[in-house]
Amino acid sequence: MDFQFTKDQRDMQQMVRDFVQNEIAPRAAEIDSTDEFPRELISKMGELGLMGIPIPEEYDGVGADFVSYISAIEEISYGSASVGVILAVHTSVGTYPILNFGTEEQKQKYVSKLATAEKIAAFGLTEPGAGSDASGMRTRAVRDGDNYILNGSKIFITNGEVADIFNVFAVTDPAQGAKGVSAFIVERGTPGFTIGKKEHKMGMNGSGTVELIFDNAVVPASQRLGQEGEGFKIAMSNLDGGRIGIAAQALGIARAAFDFAVEYAKQRTQFNQSISDFQAIQFMIADMATKIEAARLLTYQAASLRQQGLPCGKQASMAKYFASDAAMSVTTDAVQIFGGYGYSKEFPVERLMRDAKVTQIYEGTNQIQRVVVAKNLLK
Ligand code: CAA
Repeated sequence: MDFQFTKDQRDMQQMVRDFVQNEIAPRAAEIDSTDEFPRELISKMGELGLMGIPIPEEYDGVGADFVSYISAIEEISYGSASVGVILAVHTSVGTYPILNFGTEEQKQKYVSKLATAEKIAAFGLTEPGAGSDASGMRTRAVRDGDNYILNGSKIFITNGEVADIFNVFAVTDPAQGAKGVSAFIVERGTPGFTIGKKEHKMGMNGSGTVELIFDNAVVPASQRLGQEGEGFKIAMSNLDGGRIGIAAQALGIARAAFDFAVEYAKQRTQFNQSISDFQAIQFMIADMATKIEAARLLTYQAASLRQQGLPCGKQASMAKYFASDAAMSVTTDAVQIFGGYGYSKEFPVERLMRDAKVTQIYEGTNQIQRVVVAKNLLK
């Protein structure tokens, strides 16, 4: 296996790194503390092509490969995990489903605007009573002439506060279980569709997490994505790619925490010596680096498979749960190395620890990732 980036991939990585250093990292603490969606920053990213990296040029994307996209999520999350998840959800489960399953008319109508961030996308799968058990959703879509009438609600919808376009999953045939779910592109402003309460979260602030409410919402049948009954497949196949993005996000968070911790350990003195001279700290640093390295290998292996169009569900889930567990462990150790200062909001590591936690939960809990891996191994 070749783990080296190509020249194009390195160029993209450097361009994103520069943007992160100049534009994103300096704003990360403010995005966290205000919990405001960074609309101007996202528009700027749209102008630079960062909101449509793997989208083909014919739809105004950059047309870069999937590995470059994953590397961009890693770099952006290094600067701000919140901006990382806004990008990841917008692209992996916002734009890709329309690109992969939409009609040419739907693609023309939406994909260019999403690739340039003129419009923001969200993904409506989770419900109050259907999180891990996604196919147990209750939101109903009933055909009525040229429309579908949607009733139900979705929760924890990243980007939902500001999104213009929502990929929404609803049951069209309750007798068919997972195969009775259909997908719809729902626009903000659709009659009967409203945005509900905003979540106040432990971390990942600024990513606009809200509830969606459908009360006899009238969605034209032309907005159905794919065939009736194809919705669950659309959700799951795009989550395969999405989970690689979350692995990359976790990797970026872990790397940031590691860099802060190493820097601090070298300059902090106690007992008349740098704390990095103590083996207790050295062993923590070695373990942190090893976890990051292993997470990187799993993440880019999965990304490379996805890029080649090969099955990657098992590797995506392995990467997602390993990288997010690594991020939780590395950020916790970074706080420990900072000691009392690590627990203070004056330093960034407590934010990284709060942000890391949700990477073990969203896009499928780490327990569900293990279910996916085991299913793949035992089928
Ligand atoms: N690709 C394509 N199709 C797939 C698929 C995949 N990876 N996985 C399942 N399917 C389709 C298949 O057609 C399958 O039928 P067959 O078995 O006959 O092929 C059908 O779906 C049903 O599959 P399962 O029997 O495996 O379905 P299940 O009800 O047992 O659920 C599950 C499986 C893995 C538990 C799934 O429900 C799951 O992944 N749950 C977690 C939900 C999740 O990830 N939510 C994330 C929300 S989005 C988010 O978090 C975004 C954010 O804010 C950051």
